[in-house]
Amino acid sequence: MLQLPEKVEIIEVGPRDGLQNEKNFVPTDVKKAFISSLKDAGVKEMELTSFVSPKWVPQMGDAAEIVADCLDSNTRNIVLAPNKKGIERVYMTDCKAVAVFVGVSNTFNQRNINKSTAESLAEVLPLIAELKSKDYFVRACISTAFYCPYEGKIDEGEVLALCGEFVEAGVDELSVADTIGMAAPHESYSLFSKLKDAYSDVLLTAHFHDTRKLALSNIFAALQAGVTRFDTSAGGLGGCPFAPGAAGNAATEDVVYMLHRMGIETGVDLEKMLKAIELIQSHISRPIESTYFKLNSVTV
Ligand code: HMG
Ligand code: MG
Repeated sequence: MLQLPEKVEIIEVGPRDGLQNEKNFVPTDVKKAFISSLKDAGVKEMELTSFVSPKWVPQMGDAAEIVADCLDSNTRNIVLAPNKKGIERVYMTDCKAVAVFVGVSNTFNQRNINKSTAESLAEVLPLIAELKSKDYFVRACISTAFYCPYEGKIDEGEVLALCGEFVEAGVDELSVADTIGMAAPHESYSLFSKLKDAYSDVLLTAHFHDTRKLALSNIFAALQAGVTRFDTSAGGLGGCPFAPGAAGNAATEDVVYMLHRMGIETGVDLEKMLKAIELIQSHISRPIESTYFKLNSVTV
Protein backbone atom coordinates (compact mmCIF):
# COMPACT_ATOMS: atom_id res chain seq x y z
CA MET A 1 0.00 0.00 0.00
CA LEU A 2 1.22 3.49 -0.81
CA GLN A 3 1.76 5.76 2.20
CA LEU A 4 -0.29 8.86 1.44
CA PRO A 5 -0.69 11.01 4.55
CA GLU A 6 -3.58 13.47 4.82
CA LYS A 7 -1.23 16.40 5.23
CA VAL A 8 2.39 17.35 4.49
CA GLU A 9 4.33 20.31 5.85
CA ILE A 10 6.19 22.46 3.36
CA ILE A 11 9.17 24.41 4.67
CA GLU A 12 9.82 27.17 2.14
CA VAL A 13 13.57 27.80 1.76
CA GLY A 14 13.40 30.18 -1.22
CA PRO A 15 14.41 33.39 0.58
CA ARG A 16 17.52 31.65 1.99
CA ASP A 17 18.68 28.64 -0.08
CA GLY A 18 16.91 30.06 -3.14
CA LEU A 19 18.67 33.41 -3.09
CA GLN A 20 22.07 32.68 -1.46
CA ASN A 21 23.57 31.44 -4.72
CA GLU A 22 22.19 34.28 -6.85
CA LYS A 23 25.07 36.36 -8.16
CA ASN A 24 23.16 39.66 -8.51
CA PHE A 25 22.31 41.26 -5.18
CA VAL A 26 18.53 41.13 -4.77
CA PRO A 27 17.40 44.41 -3.16
CA THR A 28 16.34 43.97 0.47
CA ASP A 29 12.87 45.39 -0.21
CA VAL A 30 12.33 42.82 -2.97
CA LYS A 31 13.35 40.02 -0.59
CA LYS A 32 10.86 41.33 1.97
CA ALA A 33 8.08 41.47 -0.62
CA PHE A 34 8.98 37.91 -1.75
CA ILE A 35 8.76 36.66 1.85
CA SER A 36 5.44 38.42 2.34
CA SER A 37 3.98 36.95 -0.87
CA LEU A 38 5.12 33.44 0.13
CA LYS A 39 3.29 33.85 3.44
CA ASP A 40 0.28 35.09 1.52
CA ALA A 41 0.43 31.82 -0.45
CA GLY A 42 -0.06 29.88 2.79
CA VAL A 43 3.51 28.98 3.77
CA LYS A 44 3.68 28.38 7.52
CA GLU A 45 7.38 27.57 7.95
CA MET A 46 10.12 29.42 6.15
CA GLU A 47 13.88 29.97 6.15
CA LEU A 48 14.12 33.76 5.94
CA THR A 49 17.87 34.34 5.65
CA SER A 50 21.21 33.35 7.20
CA PHE A 51 23.58 34.96 9.66
CA VAL A 52 26.77 33.99 7.89
CA SER A 53 29.81 36.03 6.93
CA PRO A 54 28.84 38.71 4.39
CA LYS A 55 32.32 38.24 2.89
CA TRP A 56 31.54 34.59 2.15
CA VAL A 57 27.91 35.10 1.09
CA PRO A 58 27.27 38.77 0.24
CA GLN A 59 23.64 38.02 -0.73
CA MET A 60 22.81 37.30 2.94
CA GLY A 61 24.47 40.52 4.16
CA ASP A 62 21.09 42.10 4.91
CA ALA A 63 19.99 39.34 7.32
CA ALA A 64 19.35 41.66 10.27
CA GLU A 65 17.20 43.99 8.17
CA ILE A 66 15.19 41.07 6.78
CA VAL A 67 14.50 39.67 10.24
CA ALA A 68 13.61 43.09 11.65
CA ASP A 69 10.71 43.39 9.18
CA CYS A 70 9.62 39.83 8.40
CA LEU A 71 8.68 38.16 11.67
CA ASP A 72 5.04 37.31 12.35
CA SER A 73 3.22 35.03 14.75
CA ASN A 74 1.54 32.85 12.06
CA THR A 75 4.76 31.48 10.60
CA ARG A 76 7.76 29.61 11.96
CA ASN A 77 10.38 32.06 10.73
CA ILE A 78 13.76 30.31 10.74
CA VAL A 79 17.23 31.82 10.29
CA LEU A 80 20.46 29.92 9.66
CA ALA A 81 23.56 30.39 11.80
CA PRO A 82 26.70 28.22 11.55
CA ASN A 83 28.71 29.41 14.57
CA LYS A 84 28.83 31.41 17.80
CA LYS A 85 29.08 34.74 16.02
CA GLY A 86 25.99 33.85 13.94
CA ILE A 87 23.98 32.87 17.03
CA GLU A 88 25.04 36.08 18.80
CA ARG A 89 23.67 38.00 15.83
CA VAL A 90 20.39 36.03 16.11
CA TYR A 91 20.16 36.94 19.81
CA MET A 92 20.10 40.59 18.78
CA THR A 93 16.83 39.96 16.90
CA ASP A 94 13.37 38.75 17.94
CA CYS A 95 13.65 35.60 15.84
CA LYS A 96 12.99 32.45 17.90
CA ALA A 97 13.86 29.66 15.45
CA VAL A 98 17.41 28.84 14.39
CA ALA A 99 18.92 26.34 11.97
CA VAL A 100 22.51 25.25 12.46
CA PHE A 101 24.18 23.46 9.55
CA VAL A 102 26.92 20.86 9.38
CA GLY A 103 28.13 18.57 6.60
CA VAL A 104 28.59 14.83 7.08
CA SER A 105 31.54 15.18 4.72
CA ASN A 106 34.54 16.76 6.34
CA THR A 107 35.81 18.26 3.09
CA PHE A 108 32.46 19.86 2.31
CA ASN A 109 32.19 21.26 5.83
CA GLN A 110 35.68 22.73 5.51
CA ARG A 111 34.77 24.44 2.22
CA ASN A 112 31.40 25.62 3.54
CA ILE A 113 32.20 26.71 7.09
CA ASN A 114 36.02 26.64 7.19
CA LYS A 115 36.06 23.96 9.90
CA SER A 116 36.14 20.16 10.05
CA THR A 117 32.85 18.44 10.90
CA ALA A 118 34.19 17.64 14.39
CA GLU A 119 35.26 21.26 14.97
CA SER A 120 31.83 22.51 13.89
CA LEU A 121 30.11 20.02 16.21
CA ALA A 122 32.31 21.09 19.12
CA GLU A 123 31.22 24.67 18.51
CA VAL A 124 27.49 24.21 17.83
CA LEU A 125 26.42 21.44 20.25
CA PRO A 126 26.85 23.64 23.37
CA LEU A 127 25.15 26.49 21.49
CA ILE A 128 22.14 24.22 20.88
CA ALA A 129 21.87 23.52 24.62
CA GLU A 130 21.98 27.27 25.25
CA LEU A 131 19.32 27.96 22.58
CA LYS A 132 17.05 25.27 24.05
CA SER A 133 17.45 26.71 27.56
CA LYS A 134 16.21 30.00 26.09
CA ASP A 135 13.25 28.22 24.47
CA TYR A 136 14.31 28.55 20.82
CA PHE A 137 13.12 26.15 18.13
CA VAL A 138 16.28 24.48 16.80
CA ARG A 139 16.69 22.77 13.47
CA ALA A 140 19.85 20.97 12.38
CA CYS A 141 20.53 20.92 8.65
CA ILE A 142 22.65 17.92 7.71
CA SER A 143 24.43 18.52 4.40
CA THR A 144 25.95 15.94 2.04
CA ALA A 145 23.85 13.16 3.58
CA PHE A 146 24.01 11.11 0.34
CA TYR A 147 26.91 12.33 -1.81
CA CYS A 148 29.64 14.92 -1.44
CA PRO A 149 31.09 16.88 -4.38
CA TYR A 150 34.58 16.19 -3.00
CA GLU A 151 34.35 12.82 -1.19
CA GLY A 152 31.75 10.94 -3.26
CA LYS A 153 29.25 8.54 -1.70
CA ILE A 154 28.51 9.05 1.99
CA ASP A 155 28.01 6.12 4.33
CA GLU A 156 24.51 5.89 5.88
CA GLY A 157 26.01 4.96 9.25
CA GLU A 158 27.90 8.28 9.36
CA VAL A 159 24.70 10.22 8.66
CA LEU A 160 22.82 8.36 11.39
CA ALA A 161 25.65 8.94 13.86
CA LEU A 162 25.85 12.68 13.10
CA CYS A 163 22.07 13.05 13.38
CA GLY A 164 22.27 11.22 16.72
CA GLU A 165 24.65 13.88 18.08
CA PHE A 166 22.11 16.59 17.25
CA VAL A 167 19.17 14.65 18.68
CA GLU A 168 21.11 14.12 21.89
CA ALA A 169 21.89 17.85 22.01
CA GLY A 170 18.14 18.52 21.98
CA VAL A 171 17.26 19.73 18.47
CA ASP A 172 13.59 19.87 17.53
CA GLU A 173 14.14 19.01 13.87
CA LEU A 174 16.58 17.29 11.54
CA SER A 175 16.59 18.50 7.94
CA VAL A 176 18.59 15.95 6.00
CA ALA A 177 19.92 17.12 2.65
CA ASP A 178 20.94 15.79 -0.72
CA THR A 179 23.14 18.85 -1.24
CA ILE A 180 24.25 18.15 -4.81
CA GLY A 181 21.09 16.39 -6.00
CA MET A 182 22.64 13.00 -6.61
CA ALA A 183 20.53 10.65 -4.50
CA ALA A 184 18.30 8.09 -6.22
CA PRO A 185 14.88 7.10 -4.82
CA HIS A 186 16.05 3.78 -3.34
CA GLU A 187 18.74 5.68 -1.39
CA SER A 188 16.20 8.26 -0.22
CA TYR A 189 13.87 5.49 0.96
CA SER A 190 16.66 3.60 2.70
CA LEU A 191 18.16 6.55 4.61
CA PHE A 192 14.86 8.13 5.61
CA SER A 193 13.42 4.77 6.78
CA LYS A 194 16.43 4.33 9.06
CA LEU A 195 16.27 7.91 10.33
CA LYS A 196 12.54 7.58 10.99
CA ASP A 197 13.15 4.39 13.01
CA ALA A 198 16.12 5.78 14.91
CA TYR A 199 14.88 9.28 15.72
CA SER A 200 11.11 9.13 16.01
CA ASP A 201 10.96 11.90 18.65
CA VAL A 202 12.16 14.76 16.43
CA LEU A 203 10.65 16.32 13.33
CA LEU A 204 12.26 14.76 10.27
CA THR A 205 12.47 16.80 7.08
CA ALA A 206 13.89 15.95 3.68
CA HIS A 207 15.79 18.55 1.61
CA PHE A 208 16.46 17.64 -2.02
CA HIS A 209 18.29 19.59 -4.69
CA ASP A 210 17.11 18.85 -8.22
CA THR A 211 20.35 18.66 -10.20
CA ARG A 212 19.43 15.38 -11.92
CA LYS A 213 15.66 15.92 -11.93
CA LEU A 214 15.18 13.25 -9.27
CA ALA A 215 13.95 15.53 -6.46
CA LEU A 216 10.25 14.69 -6.94
CA SER A 217 11.00 10.94 -7.11
CA ASN A 218 13.17 11.24 -4.00
CA ILE A 219 10.40 13.10 -2.20
CA PHE A 220 7.91 10.41 -3.14
CA ALA A 221 10.34 7.75 -1.88
CA ALA A 222 10.83 9.66 1.40
CA LEU A 223 7.05 9.93 1.71
CA GLN A 224 6.89 6.13 1.48
CA ALA A 225 9.46 5.99 4.30
CA GLY A 226 7.05 8.03 6.46
CA VAL A 227 8.51 11.54 6.00
CA THR A 228 5.84 14.23 5.97
CA ARG A 229 7.99 17.38 5.94
CA PHE A 230 9.85 18.73 2.91
CA ASP A 231 12.11 21.73 2.33
CA THR A 232 11.25 23.25 -1.04
CA SER A 233 12.01 26.49 -2.84
CA ALA A 234 9.59 28.64 -4.83
CA GLY A 235 10.56 28.51 -8.51
CA GLY A 236 13.13 25.77 -7.80
CA LEU A 237 15.69 28.46 -6.95
CA GLY A 238 18.71 27.59 -4.89
CA GLY A 239 22.04 25.91 -4.48
CA CYS A 240 24.99 26.17 -2.17
CA PRO A 241 27.86 28.42 -3.30
CA PHE A 242 30.34 25.90 -1.82
CA ALA A 243 28.84 22.78 -3.43
CA PRO A 244 29.98 22.88 -7.06
CA GLY A 245 27.46 21.46 -9.49
CA ALA A 246 24.45 21.77 -7.16
CA ALA A 247 21.26 22.98 -8.83
CA GLY A 248 18.21 24.51 -7.16
CA ASN A 249 15.94 22.91 -4.60
CA ALA A 250 12.85 20.91 -5.42
CA ALA A 251 10.39 23.55 -6.66
CA THR A 252 7.64 24.24 -4.11
CA GLU A 253 4.98 24.48 -6.82
CA ASP A 254 5.91 21.14 -8.44
CA VAL A 255 5.99 19.37 -5.07
CA VAL A 256 2.70 20.94 -3.96
CA TYR A 257 1.08 20.07 -7.31
CA MET A 258 2.13 16.43 -6.97
CA LEU A 259 0.92 16.25 -3.37
CA HIS A 260 -2.43 17.91 -4.12
CA ARG A 261 -2.98 15.53 -7.05
CA MET A 262 -2.60 12.66 -4.56
CA GLY A 263 -5.15 14.26 -2.23
CA ILE A 264 -2.53 15.41 0.30
CA GLU A 265 -3.09 18.82 1.90
CA THR A 266 -0.26 21.35 2.14
CA GLY A 267 -2.07 24.60 2.91
CA VAL A 268 -0.27 26.20 -0.07
CA ASP A 269 -2.32 28.09 -2.67
CA LEU A 270 -0.70 27.42 -6.06
CA GLU A 271 -2.14 30.52 -7.76
CA LYS A 272 -0.66 32.73 -5.06
CA MET A 273 2.61 30.80 -5.18
CA LEU A 274 2.87 31.72 -8.88
CA LYS A 275 2.48 35.40 -7.90
CA ALA A 276 5.39 35.08 -5.42
CA ILE A 277 7.60 33.55 -8.14
CA GLU A 278 6.58 36.20 -10.68
CA LEU A 279 7.62 38.83 -8.14
CA ILE A 280 11.16 37.45 -7.75
CA GLN A 281 11.59 36.30 -11.37
CA SER A 282 12.98 39.55 -12.80
CA HIS A 283 15.63 39.78 -10.07
CA ILE A 284 17.06 36.33 -10.76
CA SER A 285 19.81 35.76 -13.32
CA ARG A 286 18.51 32.40 -14.53
CA PRO A 287 15.15 31.30 -15.89
CA ILE A 288 12.53 29.66 -13.68
CA GLU A 289 12.53 26.04 -14.76
CA SER A 290 9.77 24.42 -12.74
CA THR A 291 7.18 22.59 -14.77
CA TYR A 292 4.17 24.01 -12.92
CA PHE A 293 5.43 27.56 -13.48
CA LYS A 294 6.13 26.98 -17.18
CA LEU A 295 2.66 25.54 -17.73
CA ASN A 296 0.71 28.07 -15.69
CA SER A 297 2.44 31.43 -15.38
CA VAL A 298 1.28 34.23 -17.65
CA THR A 299 4.86 35.62 -17.65
CA VAL A 300 6.46 32.63 -19.42
P1 HMG B 1 35.85 32.27 8.81
O1 HMG B 1 36.50 33.22 7.88
O2 HMG B 1 36.55 31.01 9.15
O3 HMG B 1 35.41 33.01 10.15
O4 HMG B 1 34.41 31.92 8.22
P2 HMG B 1 36.23 33.45 11.40
O5 HMG B 1 35.58 32.88 12.59
O6 HMG B 1 37.72 33.22 11.19
O7 HMG B 1 35.98 35.02 11.36
C1 HMG B 1 36.45 35.81 10.28
C2 HMG B 1 35.59 37.06 10.18
O8 HMG B 1 34.23 36.70 9.86
C3 HMG B 1 35.51 37.86 11.47
O9 HMG B 1 35.32 39.21 11.11
C4 HMG B 1 34.23 37.36 12.10
O10 HMG B 1 33.64 38.30 12.97
C5 HMG B 1 33.34 37.18 10.87
P3 HMG B 1 36.55 40.25 11.01
O11 HMG B 1 37.21 40.19 12.37
O12 HMG B 1 37.44 39.72 9.91
O13 HMG B 1 35.88 41.53 10.66
N1 HMG B 1 32.30 36.18 11.10
C6 HMG B 1 30.99 36.42 10.88
N2 HMG B 1 30.34 37.50 10.40
C7 HMG B 1 28.99 37.41 10.32
N3 HMG B 1 28.29 36.30 10.67
C8 HMG B 1 28.91 35.21 11.12
C9 HMG B 1 30.32 35.26 11.24
N4 HMG B 1 31.24 34.36 11.66
C10 HMG B 1 32.42 34.94 11.57
N5 HMG B 1 28.21 34.13 11.47
C11 HMG B 1 32.12 31.29 8.46
C12 HMG B 1 33.55 31.04 8.90
C13 HMG B 1 31.26 30.18 9.03
C14 HMG B 1 31.68 32.62 8.98
C15 HMG B 1 32.08 31.29 6.91
O14 HMG B 1 32.66 30.12 6.44
C16 HMG B 1 30.68 31.41 6.38
O15 HMG B 1 30.02 32.43 6.52
N6 HMG B 1 30.16 30.32 5.74
C17 HMG B 1 28.79 30.35 5.29
C18 HMG B 1 28.57 29.32 4.27
C19 HMG B 1 27.14 29.35 3.80
O16 HMG B 1 26.37 30.26 4.06
N7 HMG B 1 26.77 28.29 3.08
C20 HMG B 1 25.44 28.14 2.59
C21 HMG B 1 24.47 27.70 3.64
S1 HMG B 1 24.51 25.96 3.99
C22 HMG B 1 23.58 25.26 2.70
O17 HMG B 1 23.22 25.92 1.78
C23 HMG B 1 23.24 23.82 2.81
C24 HMG B 1 21.75 23.56 3.15
O18 HMG B 1 20.90 24.17 2.22
C25 HMG B 1 21.48 22.06 3.16
C26 HMG B 1 22.01 21.39 1.88
O19 HMG B 1 21.44 21.61 0.79
O20 HMG B 1 23.03 20.69 2.03
C27 HMG B 1 21.42 24.11 4.55
MG1 MG C 1 20.30 23.36 0.31
